[in-house]
Amino acid sequence: MSTTEPLSGIRACLFDVYGTLFDVHAPVSARLTRVGDPGVARALSDTWRRKQLEYTWLRTVMGDHADFWTVTGQALDYAMASVGLTDKVLRARLMEAYLALPAFPDAVPTLEVLNASNLPLGILSNGTQVMLSAVLATAGITGRFTNVISVEAAHSFKPSRAVYALGPDAFGLKPDQIAFVSSNGWDVAGAAHYGYQAVWINRGDLPPDSLPGQPRAVLSSLSDLPHLLGRG
Ligand code: LAC
Repeated sequence: MSTTEPLSGIRACLFDVYGTLFDVHAPVSARLTRVGDPGVARALSDTWRRKQLEYTWLRTVMGDHADFWTVTGQALDYAMASVGLTDKVLRARLMEAYLALPAFPDAVPTLEVLNASNLPLGILSNGTQVMLSAVLATAGITGRFTNVISVEAAHSFKPSRAVYALGPDAFGLKPDQIAFVSSNGWDVAGAAHYGYQAVWINRGDLPPDSLPGQPRAVLSSLSDLPHLLGRG
């Protein structure tokens, strides 16, 4: 059941990365002059993200894993073709930009408050260690996390249970002692189904996914997270 009362028994907090801490649509918006009109840009960015996730799920079902950098590039190839773009320089620039995505305005202040409360923080993301190191370093937040976990350690993608199991292993805690925070509804469902106390940051004001696994709480931004975790 969803609540706004502070969650109990939380001893660590794990964050999803793409769409939760960092804006995945920024690279395309920032390159509008190369991409074309805003309608094309929107379609390109939405298709890129949708295909990127679809490819992770499909490869997992197919039993043919490739890392998130490869999948992100293959999804971009599809997305560019879908809007009739063949610009190789644009492709290279968009991939580079994925390593330097801007953090959402509520991300760094929330991490600062949680760090000050001494709650151990971690990352659990589809991204490779290279991708995660780059994006965290660009935002200057590497040191805020005690554990930066890539799904590559399980050679699979979310929402595999093997991936979610990496969190409790890294922290030496039980799943329900960890808050798992994501803006991606399907990721929240997977994390809750695995056993985390999942928190959905519903940035897009979307309806809940009809999947097994319900969030313990739904917030509209990260700013209310410290209070929810009893640290604000
Ligand atoms: C991640 C994707 C799901 O960071 O956003 O794992």
